[in-house]
Amino acid sequence: MKNWYKDVVGYQIYPSTFKDGNNDGFGDIVGIIDKLDYLKELGIGLIWIGPIYKSPKVDNGYDISNFYEIDEKYGTLEDVKLLLKECKKREIKVIFDLVLNHTSDKHEWFIDACENVNSKYKDYYIFKEPKVIDGIKYPPNNWKGFFEESVWEYVEKIDKYYFHIFSKKMPDLNWDNKDLREEMYAVARFWLDLGVDGFRMDAIAHLAKDTSFKDAYPLDEKLVLDTSKFSNRDELFDYLKEFKEEVLSKYNCMSIGEVGGCASVEDALKYVDYNNGYFNMVFNFDTCWENGAYGSIDKADSEIKTNVKNLKLLFKKWYDGIFNKAWMPIYWLNHDHPRVISQYGNINYRNESGKMLGLTLLFLYGTPFIYQGEEIGMSNVNYSDFDMFNDVHAKNFIEEYKSKYDKEVILRFLNRTSRDNARTMMQWNDSENGGFTNSESVFKVNDNYKIVNVENELKDDDSILNFYKKMIFLRNTKYKNEATLGKLEFIDLDNEDVFAYTKTFDKKIMVIANFRDYIVEFDNYIQENDIILHNYKDINIKNKKILLRPYECFFLEIKGF
Ligand code: NOJ
Repeated sequence: MKNWYKDVVGYQIYPSTFKDGNNDGFGDIVGIIDKLDYLKELGIGLIWIGPIYKSPKVDNGYDISNFYEIDEKYGTLEDVKLLLKECKKREIKVIFDLVLNHTSDKHEWFIDACENVNSKYKDYYIFKEPKVIDGIKYPPNNWKGFFEESVWEYVEKIDKYYFHIFSKKMPDLNWDNKDLREEMYAVARFWLDLGVDGFRMDAIAHLAKDTSFKDAYPLDEKLVLDTSKFSNRDELFDYLKEFKEEVLSKYNCMSIGEVGGCASVEDALKYVDYNNGYFNMVFNFDTCWENGAYGSIDKADSEIKTNVKNLKLLFKKWYDGIFNKAWMPIYWLNHDHPRVISQYGNINYRNESGKMLGLTLLFLYGTPFIYQGEEIGMSNVNYSDFDMFNDVHAKNFIEEYKSKYDKEVILRFLNRTSRDNARTMMQWNDSENGGFTNSESVFKVNDNYKIVNVENELKDDDSILNFYKKMIFLRNTKYKNEATLGKLEFIDLDNEDVFAYTKTFDKKIMVIANFRDYIVEFDNYIQENDIILHNYKDINIKNKKILLRPYECFFLEIKGF
């Protein structure tokens, strides 16, 4: 089975920091339109645009106060129509973020539910009575959410707690309520009718909760993050079946659910199995943290090291589990992760490791998604103070841990892992603010913008960006079948340093990538005229072994296999 979304290379746009088209310091739709030719030349066939709906932006747009309105910071509905037209002209498909799990606390439903005892919207959310012990009111249970807080927040006016798995400014919706479900289906239809090609569905794994709301183990812990209480639960699949029947199946659209780190391969198949799944793909986070950085507050930088073998095993696990049964996206990062060059690459070998990471990913099984700036080697921030962080999760984290850890330790951890790393301004040129905007902005630009920027990369034949163009071109044309239909086999799976694989269909292609900043010996599979792409100028062979230099990578076509 072949579908358009398998053949394209995707690109994620984080709209507030991609390009400011009207110079108010905020990225917008006009800015995206300005850069469509850039994306087309890069070879992109699909863009995923983060939420641009009306929002107080506590969580940068994932807190939506009106699902039908475009936030004025991003532009207007007319701008969206123009964007869709311009994308169509260039044969670029567009998917929007669709946030079905929660709203902003400034959504009129929620305001009404908190103001009026008899509000019909009360049942659109999850409200519970306080637990009263010795006359004191407590949250209904000990569950902790994803943003370092209790999942419960008290509303004095109605003497109830409401439920939220993300920020307290983002109350969860109650998918048990049929009227609410119909409202959300109408939202999806509205955007599909307008012409978007599908959705990336935010936090989709969490629509159903354990409605017993019993305390999580250990019972005596004040707050426990037990994601099983609100992830991949059976009732969710009833909702998704209905959503598919009532909406998705009626359109020629593509859908990707975000299931994060809580879904196994078996869970994923429930969502995306070709025969009886509900979407086309799911994003899991399994391959985003294989260097020990997640939760690494107590670790020194020297303890953060890519576990190349595990990384391969994880890609293999997903491939083995779903090849021929389903399709998946492949990506190194999105707006919730650190920059991949800082995570698995090395800024001292920016050019070599940037190319190597792109190549390693691009021909694996699935639709690749490049995150804005990855194609020029943008890297993590290096903030020296707490108030430089902008992300709600980072802010909550600082509040929670500042009395328990030294400031330097928290900064080290956040500079390594925080979501702010991926959210700095896109670096277009070496002018102030990296050419993202001509005005003051609440967003920050990475200090390295004078060197690392699109304009410089375009000028340099040997740049990461030009390497990306070549790779994407090859994936889109000559090696499309190998990329999309080919059988994946890892070479020397146990190797701790080198990520190497073949993909075989009509042709056989091979990727060899050294993930280390030192020389690594590897069996020599390389015939000089098999080399299609290489990030060094010559080859280093000794005693019939190839000596792979720091982050050296090869893309080969093995002739006559
Ligand atoms: C996942 C999104 O990617 C993230 O940025 C957001 O904070 C949460 N969902 C809540 O919407």
